[in-house]
Amino acid sequence: MFVCICRAVTIDEVHEHCDAGAYTVDAIGDRCGAGEGCGTCLDKLDTILNERLSTATTAA
Ligand code: FES
Repeated sequence: MFVCICRAVTIDEVHEHCDAGAYTVDAIGDRCGAGEGCGTCLDKLDTILNERLSTATTAA
């Protein structure tokens, strides 16, 4: 499933970039371009990152 249509970035790719240390929307954009087109996906990217941080916090 695409998160960013402009750059054809899937949710799995976003998670892979997070796994590799990208924990901000800007860092994700630097790695794959997500969010650097129309900007429609920025809220989705933010939600994914917040969910990951929330999960990491509760798992610790
Ligand atoms: S959908 Fe991601 S920048 Fe347009």
